[in-house]
Order: sequence, then C-alpha cells, then structure tokens
Amino acid sequence: MADVSRETPEPDLALVTAVFAPDRLPALRRYVGLLAGDGVTRGLIGPREVPRLWDRHVLNCGLLSPLLPEGVHVVDLGSGAGLPGLVLALARPDLSVTLVEPMLRRTTFLTEACEALGLDRVRVVRGRAEEVVGERFDIVTARALAPLPKLLTWALPLVSSGGVVLAMKGSSAPEEVAASARELGRWRASAEVLTLSVPGSSVTTVVRVVPGRSSAIGWPTEHPARSTRPNRRKRS
Ligand SMILES: C[S@@+](CC[C@H](N)C(=O)[O-])C[C@H]1O[C@@H](n2cnc3c(N)ncnc32)[C@H](O)[C@@H]1O
Repeated sequence: MADVSRETPEPDLALVTAVFAPDRLPALRRYVGLLAGDGVTRGLIGPREVPRLWDRHVLNCGLLSPLLPEGVHVVDLGSGAGLPGLVLALARPDLSVTLVEPMLRRTTFLTEACEALGLDRVRVVRGRAEEVVGERFDIVTARALAPLPKLLTWALPLVSSGGVVLAMKGSSAPEEVAASARELGRWRASAEVLTLSVPGSSVTTVVRVVPGRSSAIGWPTEHPARSTRPNRRKRS
C-alpha cells in the first residue's frame, strides 16, 4: 500500500495524546498516511478530507475508546475506510474487531491496511449489516451508516448479553432517538446521547443503546473526558 507522507497531515500532539496512548501514535500516523495515500487514490476518502483526517476522523473516532471495556469484541458496521473500527483497533490492541463492509474496493483497502499495520486481531467481512447472522458482539459501532431506527434493526440483534450499541451521530441524535421509539420498545432498550470531547477537540456525539434484556453491568458510565447527556429516553 502507498502512503503519501509529504501530504500526510501532522497531528496536534497535545490533542492526540489527550485521546490516545503515546505508544499508539506511530501506528495511527501510518494509518493516516494510508488514508491520505491509497485512501484518496482509490476514492475512499475525498481529497478535501486530507487536512482534517486527524481531527474530524481519527480523533473523533478515538474518543469512543474509553467507553469500551478491556478485551471486548467489537463489530463495526459499514466501516468504509475503517472509521471507527480500525481507529479503535489501533488505539486498543486488547480489542478484537470485526469490520463489516459490503463494497469490495473498501474491504480490499481494509484487508491491506490490516496487513500493513500488523493488526492480527481484526477480521474484515465483506457483507451487509443485515446479512450478519449467528454471531453476537459485546459492542456494535457504526458511523454515518443509516438513520438510527434502521441502524437499530441491524445492530440490536447482534448485541450479546450485557453488550451495547454505540452509534456515532451528529446534532440530529436527540431527534433520531425520538424517532426510534418503536425499535427501542421492541428490545426494551434505553438510549442516551453522549457528547464526548477533550479540550480543543471537536465534539463526538454518540447514542449509546443498551438492550433491556441485559443489565450492562460493569460498563463504563462516564467518559474520562467531558461527557454530557442532553437527552435520555428509557423504553421498557
Ligand atoms: C457514509 S459511509 C461511512 C463509512 C465510515 N463508517 C465512516 O464513517 O467514514 C457508509 C458505509 O456503509 C456501507 N454500507 C452501506 N450499506 C450498508 C449495509 N447495509 N451494511 C453495512 N454497510 C453498509 C457503505 O459501503 C459505506 O462504506
């Protein structure tokens, strides 16, 4: 795989070390290089995204990391070029990560990126979220995949007992939670909107959905960075 190191943006070190352990930075830099190189030439990332790869994409996804307990199995639906799945795998070598993505061009990039980055706990599955059957995961993540009601119909059946869905959303998150009443009720699930950031970073908005059949005991309830809950809806 090719990276274009002279065009690869440099991270704001204060920001990235607020989100990632310093020993993870070389691998994360390498991944950003792959996104800026092959990611752009293969049409997975728009060239205009390159200057904001760190803040808008890598840091944005990395903010999820403290929500994940040690050693869990994560499935990232509609992973695209690896956001957030590959960022989480790079940030947290303790995780097992499955990336689900239907487009061959993207799964080829993901497979080659895993090889280049030495990620042997990541599995790339070519397919659609709704085609994943017979498997359960501790955490289901997705970013920019589908409106929350549709996403929940794909994600909730994949959550193991005690697991959660973490849906990365924008400012529409509260409205999407309200629109998901039927899906939440069907699974007796609760949903809360978390806004995550570190000083100087953009905000990452996440809808955390806990199916009611599980108690989610032992899961982090507070993000070590700033975390607010502007909207919490409980359906049972
Ligand atoms: C807007 S992109 C987001 C990619 C990545 N998550 C990100 O945030 O950059 C949506 C991705 O979902 C994939 N996708 C579309 N329909 C899907 C489905 N039913 N199941 C899984 N992935 C799907 C697309 O191929 C695409 O890679």
